[in-house]
Amino acid sequence: MSVPDLFCPYPLSDRLTLKNRIVMAPLMRLTLCENGMPAQDLAQYYSDRADAGLLITEVVMISPQARGYANNLGIYSDSQITRWKEITDAVHRRDGKIFIQLWHPGRVSHPNFLNGAQPVAPSAVPLTGEVPWADNLRYGMPRALQVPEIKAIVQHFSRAAANAMQAGFDGVELHGGNGYLIDEFLHQETNLREDEYGGNPANKARFVLEVIDSLSQNIDPGSIGIRLAPAAYLNMTPRPEDPITFMHLLKELEKRRLAYIHESIDDDSRSFDYLNGRVSEFLRRNYRGTIIGNGGFTPELARRAIKNGNCDLVSFGRLFATYPDLVERIRTNQPTH
Ligand SMILES: Cc1cc2nc3c(=O)[nH]c(=O)nc-3n(C[C@H](O)[C@H](O)[C@H](O)COP(=O)(O)O)c2cc1C
Repeated sequence: MSVPDLFCPYPLSDRLTLKNRIVMAPLMRLTLCENGMPAQDLAQYYSDRADAGLLITEVVMISPQARGYANNLGIYSDSQITRWKEITDAVHRRDGKIFIQLWHPGRVSHPNFLNGAQPVAPSAVPLTGEVPWADNLRYGMPRALQVPEIKAIVQHFSRAAANAMQAGFDGVELHGGNGYLIDEFLHQETNLREDEYGGNPANKARFVLEVIDSLSQNIDPGSIGIRLAPAAYLNMTPRPEDPITFMHLLKELEKRRLAYIHESIDDDSRSFDYLNGRVSEFLRRNYRGTIIGNGGFTPELARRAIKNGNCDLVSFGRLFATYPDLVERIRTNQPTH
């Protein structure tokens, strides 16, 4: 059997084959925008990078209450859907494929972004530190969500996903990492609930699985991916209970035959005792479907990771920000640093 290369096409699902195994990771741009409206120049920005096998957009708000920073983009209004359609059309004209990253920031927000309302989270556990890209704002204490509010957010994810398909996206990626709402349910530090959404691995995984099952009523699971951060490296602290929750979740995700799991870590060469190795190794040991590796990959490291089977695809974030022609650079062995 021949060894798969970065430039081998990849069958992501029954209806979606990627032209290569290079993925553009989500990158928040936070350029000035009003009411979550994507800027017109995004069509150019993404279509410039459409040589990638798959593009994934930056975080996109599922509702006006899902704002975590100034200038986040949304997919909850008709005018936003129309603008996104221009962007997906531009990518498709260049034979590209694009997923949207759907997001709720949970406690990683501030009343200034929420018309004065307190950020919400699984439990009232404060986040410390300064809000990035904001003048002297500090994170604080979120309000614990009530069960009917959790059910409403599941519906917001579902509606946003339906809007995304209407806007011509090839699929959706749920942002389940980096200490945002979905991740907060999965980690012990941020989930102290004693109801059906906390306390044991099945309960902690309930929210995200409800979101996926709700989306799957309208969208082929092969068009749904999820980003996960088992190492709890951003906006939270890992706890010994966490890997067991992730092992349970990964088994459940395997049954749902999603498009992929996308690793989230700043640097995949980091090893974590409690994951018994790298994040990509932990994911591979516990999940048999498609894995997108991420975090500090160079083209050479990406080739190696695909060759040794740790991942099927590799996403590049900062390199794609710097080089719109990254794919061509890799193909022709030009420098990327
Ligand atoms: C400026 C910037 C914005 C980012 N925005 C997002 C985002 O919107 N969603 C997300 O999941 N990750 C986001 N990330 C993380 C990247 O997707 C990626 O995981 C990280 O840059 C590590 O990969 P790299 O070494 O290839 O850059 C962002 C990273 C940077 C540097």
